[in-house]
Amino acid sequence: MFIGLDLGTSGLKGILIDEAQRVLAEAAAPLTVSRPHDGWSEQAPADWIAAVEAVMDRLAARGLGAVRGIGLSGQMHGATLLDGGDRVLRPCILWNDTRAHAEAAALDVDPRFRRITGNIIFPGFTAPKVMWLASHEPALREKVATVLLPKDYLRLWLTGEKVSDMSDSAGTGWLDTGARAWSEVLLAATGLSPAAMPRLIEGSAVSGVLRTALAARWGLPAGVVVAGGGGDNAASGVGVGVVRAGEAFVSLGTSGVLFAANDGYRPDPATAIHTFCHALPDTWHQMGVILAATDALNWYARLVGADAAALTGELGRLQAPGKTAFLPYLGGERTPLNSAAVRGAFTGLEHATDRAAATRAVLEGVTFAVRDCRDALAVTGTRITRLLAVGGGSRSDYWLGAIATALEVPVEVPVAGDFGGAFGAARLALMAATGAGAEIATPPDIARVITPDPALAAAFDAGHARFRAARDAIAGLA
Ligand code: XUL
Repeated sequence: MFIGLDLGTSGLKGILIDEAQRVLAEAAAPLTVSRPHDGWSEQAPADWIAAVEAVMDRLAARGLGAVRGIGLSGQMHGATLLDGGDRVLRPCILWNDTRAHAEAAALDVDPRFRRITGNIIFPGFTAPKVMWLASHEPALREKVATVLLPKDYLRLWLTGEKVSDMSDSAGTGWLDTGARAWSEVLLAATGLSPAAMPRLIEGSAVSGVLRTALAARWGLPAGVVVAGGGGDNAASGVGVGVVRAGEAFVSLGTSGVLFAANDGYRPDPATAIHTFCHALPDTWHQMGVILAATDALNWYARLVGADAAALTGELGRLQAPGKTAFLPYLGGERTPLNSAAVRGAFTGLEHATDRAAATRAVLEGVTFAVRDCRDALAVTGTRITRLLAVGGGSRSDYWLGAIATALEVPVEVPVAGDFGGAFGAARLALMAATGAGAEIATPPDIARVITPDPALAAAFDAGHARFRAARDAIAGLA
């Protein structure tokens, strides 16, 4: 048996699979985000530990005596800052925190960063956050001895080892993404050395062994290996078999991601597409990232005092986008805008805009932002002909219908679409424990296929044109 743990932004999920990759048990614990200032987004690492304890306690009730490996997946880019005694110095600064926009812009104009990492240095990446600390919390910066990504902090607690994998590390701003190694040049440019960084391994390699006390607590045998794992998007790719060129998925989680596997390293920073290592050796991927997908729907649900599932459930059949448009830039945007300052908007509100029309506008707004990612990927030469859908938002057929129609591709919904990251992490655990390779990252069973509605294609094109016009119109407001 193998366990996958996915440290998401809104919760930590765990699943238990057997050698044939059947899901035997699953458990989840919620997490909240603290936003003490405009543009800030933080979580306390102690909350992650409490969540992993809750999830493992629940999985342990199933009996874990046959477990051989654990894999980790996690929200990317977070700066978990530790002192020389491995104590947490401050709340983790998360992937969707844009406070370090000035520092990011300063690093991004240094040509070495784009050349070596293959990416724009976005404010949400890890490196600019350490620069922000130097100018805003210098006493804490002095004490930083180790910088870990969120899932790697869990690993430290689980195994005592400071290790990261290539896919997650590619989102720091310090990785030589083509060479799959820390760049001493880029680390030095931010006042750090490789000594502050975890050891790097591939996602399917062994990073360490579960601590004896934890194995005893949860009834696991001695010697359970913990795999390198992956950033949540790369781990989801392994989970839904998107590991070969030509395969792609859309993730509707807190963030929205359009992810394509590649046959080589193909960076194109000018497009604001991310080019990262995949979680398997010698593979890379590209993705467009929007900062608010279900985050936008959940914001709107709170605003109107309703449950998000109830809002999407009342929509009925897919309709042509109306005049009301929604821009989902609640906390800035990555692809294609690279703007920490831009903010969201409803435009085209009218007397006829009722709750359902506004809900449709929110789903359409995220859909059009994903279409912008599709267009940015196309500039790099990457074409998407079919898509798998993962993440909590994939429970809404209305939303997937809008995506299928706006992107003109069939969207396949895996049987366990919610568990992409955790399932991928469990697969990486299987690989680490048994030596299996990419061949076990097969496509999932498909629960349903949502096809584009050709009768609505022109209306979605027009809706996208309105969305872009609204975006241009509000550009000066932020
Ligand atoms: C990817 C990104 C998000 C987080 C969400 O670059 O920032 O998708 O990984 O967990």
